[in-house]
Amino acid sequence: MDFTNLLIEKALSARQNAYVPYSKFKVGAAIITDTDKIYGGFNIECSSYSPTNCAERTALFRAVYDGHRNFKAIAIVGGAESEVNSLSSYAPPCGVCRQMLREFCHPLHFKIILAKSLNDFKIFTLDELLPYSFGPENLK
Ligand code: THU
Repeated sequence: MDFTNLLIEKALSARQNAYVPYSKFKVGAAIITDTDKIYGGFNIECSSYSPTNCAERTALFRAVYDGHRNFKAIAIVGGAESEVNSLSSYAPPCGVCRQMLREFCHPLHFKIILAKSLNDFKIFTLDELLPYSFGPENLK
């Protein structure tokens, strides 16, 4: 079954609880494991700014905490707090999140779904967004 719509739905609902008192920019993410379990995440900001955790890493870390190590795809949605289910632009993952995804996800097979709504999205592979990357194999 195609998981794209399920992931976008979950990312949109996760986004509602984002903790964004400083940027007022809410991001939601949903990642699916190789066993079809879905974990949602949102950004969590901090008054000293740099400890802020992005939505993508919140979703990934929740899944990794539960023992998952292999993933198929992530959906990401983001926009100003005032926007709800139809966002005005795509929210591409930051460099730190791309690298953290690279730790657990196959660059050529893992899909990154950037969505504005349930029927407006683009799909990239991790390798397209993080080409010629450094990963766990480089340390073997
Ligand atoms: N943010 C994410 O959650 N994911 C990204 O990949 C890009 C940025 C968050 C961090 C911060 O809370 C807000 O968006 C503005 O940068």
